[in-house]
Amino acid sequence: MTTIRVRFGLAASALALLLALSTTMAASASTQASASAQSPADKPAAASVTSDTYRDVYQGWKWWHVYCYRCHGVDALGTTNAPNLTDPNEKFTRAEFMRIVKTGKANTAMQSWSKLLDDKQIGEVYVYVRARAEKVLPPGRPDEIGTNGGSWTPPDGWRAR
Ligand code: HEC
Repeated sequence: MTTIRVRFGLAASALALLLALSTTMAASASTQASASAQSPADKPAAASVTSDTYRDVYQGWKWWHVYCYRCHGVDALGTTNAPNLTDPNEKFTRAEFMRIVKTGKANTAMQSWSKLLDDKQIGEVYVYVRARAEKVLPPGRPDEIGTNGGSWTPPDGWRAR
């Protein structure tokens, strides 16, 4: 009899714990849901414009001006050697961009960059190019760290898709 009562007691407290846990989880899930409702992206808005956005765009700008600018031009505006990547017709998805940059384009001056740039770095270049193509980022050197009143401020919720 006592054992049964003890067991019942244990089960009841386990149940209470579960209930408490699921309430907390539901609460945080709804916070996330309302955050992502402000952003068209699949991630919560908080993941959009953060210091990471500024850092990635800055890093991308750096790689760009080491490897890409001599053909695709300063500020990604193109040269006679290679296309302007800020052209509205040049809106690649991240996957397309990664594939082109990693494999290059056969029989053109566009080589494969996979020996010089890893996925993270190519992803940073992508974010930089998108910021230029979407006219979010003006020409020139982007701020490395987000600033109030710096040279650029991405619109709320902006992130390169
Ligand atoms: C030596 C010159 C050269 C360099 C350096 C270069 N590219 Fe290219 N790139 C080209 C050419 C030429 C094309 C167009 C190929 C074609 O005719 O389809 C091209 C095409 C592309 C395209 C596809 C554009 C389109 O319209 O299909 C992307 C994206 C691209 N380059 C990104 C980059 C990135 C990022 C870098 C730096 C890591 C880079 N390129 C460096 C010459 C270059």
